[in-house]
Amino acid sequence: MRKQIAAANWKMNLTYKEGQDLLKRMVSSSILTLEGQEVVVAVPFPYLSMAIEALAGKAGFFTAGQNCSDKERGAHTGETSAEMLASMNVAYCIIGHSERREHYGETGAMLAKKMDLSLQYGLSPIFCCGEPLSIREAGEQERFVQEQLQDALFHLSSEQLARVVIAYEPVWAIGTGRTASFEQAQEMHAYIRSVIKEQWGVAAAEHISILYGGSVKGSNAAQLFSAPDVDGGLVGGASLVAEEFIDIIKALKNKT
Ligand code: PGA
Repeated sequence: MRKQIAAANWKMNLTYKEGQDLLKRMVSSSILTLEGQEVVVAVPFPYLSMAIEALAGKAGFFTAGQNCSDKERGAHTGETSAEMLASMNVAYCIIGHSERREHYGETGAMLAKKMDLSLQYGLSPIFCCGEPLSIREAGEQERFVQEQLQDALFHLSSEQLARVVIAYEPVWAIGTGRTASFEQAQEMHAYIRSVIKEQWGVAAAEHISILYGGSVKGSNAAQLFSAPDVDGGLVGGASLVAEEFIDIIKALKNKT
């Protein structure tokens, strides 16, 4: 079975104390990851040490950055490099979230560099793709997502791709309460897997975890995750509430 992942994306939410309390509630809950499952928590940079420490004793729980620089190091005030994250034993890094593409002008070329640097320093990138509403309404979502994959991932080797996680996040479903249906999610995930197969072969396509993101909640996670090509979720709003996120972790597929 492919790795099943529940990933929290706190975005720019929670004070330090609120973040600490949320992690404490997750860690002290009885929730355990089963074989082949992982929980990833992407926190704001200043909270990384706190999160790493809080999750250290919880098997299958990992910390992630929400972004990294497209530059390796040097005079880039305000940036955080992949090397810095890796040096703190951060396991994952979100790359190319639609909010970064839209509000911070991140292009496919920049994301390709971020992918390279993340992989070079041993992080596992969670690469985000997904179409805005106008593209969906025009029925162009496959072409749009194919181009996003092409621009940022197609230059990677099979060995590099094996460490990548993809998150399909239709922009119209992010933070809107409007979730893709089971059919819409399955259709796009199967399509993304077919693109991977065409580019890197069947083994790579079978191995790669593709997460769904966009208004995942405790109440809809089990249905979405039951789609054959959906390997878990990338969760914003609902990851800020311990009980909600725990329900989402419980909704992951398992081997038994
Ligand atoms: P949401 O965000 O769960 O609040 O829709 C998902 C994301 O942006 O990763």
